[in-house]
Amino acid sequence: MSPFSMITLALSKGRIFEETLPLLAAAGIEVTEDPEKSRKLILSTNRPDVRVVLVRATDVPTYVQHGGADIGVAGKDTLIEHSGSNGDHDGLYQPLDLNIAKCRMSVAVRADFDYATAVKQGSRIRVATKYTTIASEHFANKGVHVDLIKLYGSMELAPLIGVADAIVDLVSTGNTLKANHLVEVEEIMQISSRLVVNQASLKLKREAIRQLIQAFESAIPA
Ligand code: PRP
Repeated sequence: MSPFSMITLALSKGRIFEETLPLLAAAGIEVTEDPEKSRKLILSTNRPDVRVVLVRATDVPTYVQHGGADIGVAGKDTLIEHSGSNGDHDGLYQPLDLNIAKCRMSVAVRADFDYATAVKQGSRIRVATKYTTIASEHFANKGVHVDLIKLYGSMELAPLIGVADAIVDLVSTGNTLKANHLVEVEEIMQISSRLVVNQASLKLKREAIRQLIQAFESAIPA
């Protein structure tokens, strides 16, 4: 099969992979290998013209942008951090909000930190986050002065050991915050995952990609 007729879909393991499966099913695509049971990075499907590549969530936009994958599924958080708020840049087209992997981006603090007063008084707030673009835009819009501390995970720890006053992180059930005695004080935005498409692929493989987009659209959860 020529590479021009092969469609490569970039997904990340975990929630995005799991919640994309029903959308793929609607397009008649079934992934025939279980990513939790193998270390393989290229997974085949029941269709010889479709394959799935497994990449880190933050790398999905990069693979699609560079044509390593024709399409991908990435969280709104990841897309904003990748290319800024109006994401349609650099060969990345975002035709659909898939309404999957839903959560929210929030500000959280230690229960004994008076966030409202700190904001009102114009204090400088130390904020630990992996999401520096989203955080800096949010606080700039509010006119709050912050010192951002870039972390790559386990943000919840930072306020507990005095490295930060607040964190900006994804919240789903709220269990992680609760377990670490943190409270959510502000929701920044609702997050869901979007379909991203390489703009060159959109032209070269138009019919196949159009069919996929249509099938996905018909199966988006309410
Ligand atoms: C996210 C987020 C929180 C947790 C929130 O981490 O960073 O730690 O989920 O979920 P909850 O409100 O349901 O407890 P994730 O597990 O995605 O891993 P990460 O730390 O690699 O981002």
